[in-house]
Amino acid sequence: MYHTPSLGRSDDSAVDSSSVPGTPSDMSMFAQAYSIPADSLDMGALPERVGTPQPSRYHMALPDILHPETASSVPIRTICCIGAGYVGGPTAAVIALHNPHIRVVVVDRDQRRIDAWKSRHLPIHEPGLEDVVRIARDGAAETRRRGDSPTGDTMDAARQPNLFFSTACIETIKIADMCLISVNTPTKTRGVGAGRATDMAALEGACRDIAMHAKAGCVLVEKSTVPCKTGQLIKDIMEAHRPGVVFPVLSNPEFLSEGTAIRDLMQPDRVVIGCESTISGHRAAAALANLYAAWVPRSRIAPIGIWSSELCKLAANAMLAQRISSINSISAICERTDADVGEIAKSIGLDPRIGPQFLKAGLGFGGSCFRKDIASLTYLAESLGLPEVAAYWQQVLTMNDFQRDRFARHVIATLNNSLRGKKVAILGYAFKKNTGDARESPALDVIRILLEEGPKSITIYDPLCSEADIKRELSVLERDYAVSMPSGPVEVVSDPYTACANSNAVLILTDWDMFKNSKPVTQSSKPVTIAQTYDGATPTDVLHLTPRIERVTINKPPTPPRTPKLSPLAPELNTRLLPEPSCPADCTVCRSSSSAGMSAETDTTTPIDWATISKTVREPRWVFDGRGVLDARAMVGMGFRLETLGRASMY
Ligand code: NAD
Ligand code: UGA
Repeated sequence: MYHTPSLGRSDDSAVDSSSVPGTPSDMSMFAQAYSIPADSLDMGALPERVGTPQPSRYHMALPDILHPETASSVPIRTICCIGAGYVGGPTAAVIALHNPHIRVVVVDRDQRRIDAWKSRHLPIHEPGLEDVVRIARDGAAETRRRGDSPTGDTMDAARQPNLFFSTACIETIKIADMCLISVNTPTKTRGVGAGRATDMAALEGACRDIAMHAKAGCVLVEKSTVPCKTGQLIKDIMEAHRPGVVFPVLSNPEFLSEGTAIRDLMQPDRVVIGCESTISGHRAAAALANLYAAWVPRSRIAPIGIWSSELCKLAANAMLAQRISSINSISAICERTDADVGEIAKSIGLDPRIGPQFLKAGLGFGGSCFRKDIASLTYLAESLGLPEVAAYWQQVLTMNDFQRDRFARHVIATLNNSLRGKKVAILGYAFKKNTGDARESPALDVIRILLEEGPKSITIYDPLCSEADIKRELSVLERDYAVSMPSGPVEVVSDPYTACANSNAVLILTDWDMFKNSKPVTQSSKPVTIAQTYDGATPTDVLHLTPRIERVTINKPPTPPRTPKLSPLAPELNTRLLPEPSCPADCTVCRSSSSAGMSAETDTTTPIDWATISKTVREPRWVFDGRGVLDARAMVGMGFRLETLGRASMY
């Protein structure tokens, strides 16, 4: 039985407040308030559509969120997306792409980030992002399509730009019908709950701006990952500044992964929309659902209660991370028993109840979210008086730390317990492949442990993380040691061969395809369309995923055939793109790319030549594979000594 909550003061609730629990301010009351009596559960009555909230006997009068007519009462012409980061930028771009009649303005206080979004050099790397931004931000020309219809050629109308980037936060909020709040929600570093609770400063700041300047009725959408009950906090901020004005609050957590953000946004497994059970809540949810319905089948849109929606995001990340820690715990056993964690993951994953995803053993999860979201969950559990639950999830983090700690200590032990006078090469800094995001990479922990041994040098190569980003991340270690050259031993270089030359050990810390020594699996050249994977009809022709060759400059030998990248645009649309904004003559990004011998679009899939590397590393040619990307037989054949997480040492 579906049961949507009501947020604090009920503006237009269709329910009798005496029979439906309101939102208690005390967290511990929350669990009680939402326990549904067993006798009210009707197990026989299954919902018509997956995720569709079924009207309870209390909620018969509430409008259907998934019905397009419900959306018509909340017209959306302008959307303000607050936060131009990894979520805000790509999400706004995809919404704009599919809703050309809506003006989408992404605002951020960070002038440099906004400038980058407006330029040729987007601030984040995501396969396919550039194409989506190009068409929504820059528009497209009118074109003739030959012989498409029985009557002859068809004309595709010109497309006007409808995606904008700006630092004018207040001015944009003032005209918005909907605000997507996509600001950062990191872990608190000081004060109550430091290290675990969520730092809500950015979210509060954005909400205050909205409260003071938004039009009455503006729909507020939590896209940031937030602790359960943040909807109430937002309502309270609104009420404090604009008493009596209705601002519907929705939770619409984002499930995209970095590196596949555009694919995830184009083909989401589900779009969760959490709302309160009021008429305005359902109407607002319908308006948001309608935006997504421009490209997502309505059967994949799941309206749920706002608290469930907030909590389901934390739970989803916690459960994904838990799988990684589970397989990593097994990898430690494998190393002491001659079992192979790759074989175990494969055989476990064949059980359809378990499935193959997120069973790749390695250095553990990094990135800006898993750790902070589990920390937030443990803090929530403790606040609710559930220490056993908190301890359960804490163990997922403990296992994650254990994994990179024992990897780094194994490297040191293998190199005779000393790194004095030795060079360590690090291939890969990003927390996972296909992203230039250097935040919270496992590499940082590994480097921290290596630095304790006073190595002569640590040379890092990553195809996408910028030197500035890596150095900024490493700067947290400066408290204990001089880290970056010239005063410290760490250097970031722009090609893998320089990184590895004369090294005593090569460490693979990111699963980039280019570090593999087996043949990469080539993508099918047959275009894949979303219409083929979805049951619903695709409303536009921009959803084709077609291989397209990137401009590429490789730094060193060899040059095997390049892997085509996926473009979300149909080939004919690529020809309609209008010219990109041009760079100023002194553009620093253009200058640094050309001086490093790299194109702005760097090749990340062409395999490096391990045979060449084998001739330049020091004997006995140690390679430590922290991501399980190397084929052991081939590496040993080239004279390397290979150590892999999750497999017993060969030496
Ligand atoms: P980010 O740090 O890349 O971007 C956040 C942006 O918000 C920054 O550019 C910051 O300057 C801006 N900002 C903060 N306060 C502002 C204000 N008051 N006005 C205007 N701009 C403001 O963060 P992100 O990685 O995009 O993550 C955003 C949220 O989405 C987080 O809650 C995160 O947990 C969640 N999330 C992230 C991912 C991911 O892959 N990165 C995936 C799903 C969910
Ligand atoms: C993750 C989730 O997958 C997204 O659904 C979620 O939206 C996002 O967090 C978020 O909330 O920020 P992301 O962190 O971008 O996405 O990347 P993942 O693919 O989940 O990888 C996370 C980390 O786990 C990486 O360091 C990766 O190398 C590691 N990992 C992943 C493994 O070690 N083994 C695996 O089998 C899978």
